Amino acid sequence: MTVERTLSIIKPDATRRNITGKINTVFEVGGLRVVGQKRIQLTTKQAGAFYEVHKDRPFYNELVTFMTSAPVVVQVLEGENAVARHRELMGATNPEEAAEGTVRKLYAQSIGENSVHGSDSLENAEREIAFFFAETEILP
Ligand code: PPS
Repeated sequence: MTVERTLSIIKPDATRRNITGKINTVFEVGGLRVVGQKRIQLTTKQAGAFYEVHKDRPFYNELVTFMTSAPVVVQVLEGENAVARHRELMGATNPEEAAEGTVRKLYAQSIGENSVHGSDSLENAEREIAFFFAETEILP
């Protein structure tokens, strides 16, 4: 059994609609444990740095504007194969392609306003967790 940690962000479209609990239920019922969590307002500088990997993509400015448009909930999720399991539970980036029962099928509004972000590899998970959390803020 490989216990991993991954970084999850509940995005502004979801905090605005007051559905963070419903999203956490999908993660918890799906076998993941919330071991770190805080509600924060991202600055443009923070969001720009977090999504720097996408800076040459046409939607970069839109993504940064959206992610700073309301508070987000940043989370550390822990569990067996947490990176892959979390991505399964989120569903495809485009909600029209997301599987039944996934967060994005249930709640996402568009490919941009898609309710959740999740790390796409263990290496990125470690980097993204360190971006938002001190080790003392993670309590298994
Ligand atoms: S992935 O996981 O990197 O392969 O997904 P990708 O499709 O490359 O998208 C990366 C992030 O950009 C967001 N996105 C968009 N935002 C606004 N407009 C458009 N058209 C758009 N397309 C993709 C998408 O929600 C991903 O956000 P995160 O937070 O990484 O999930």
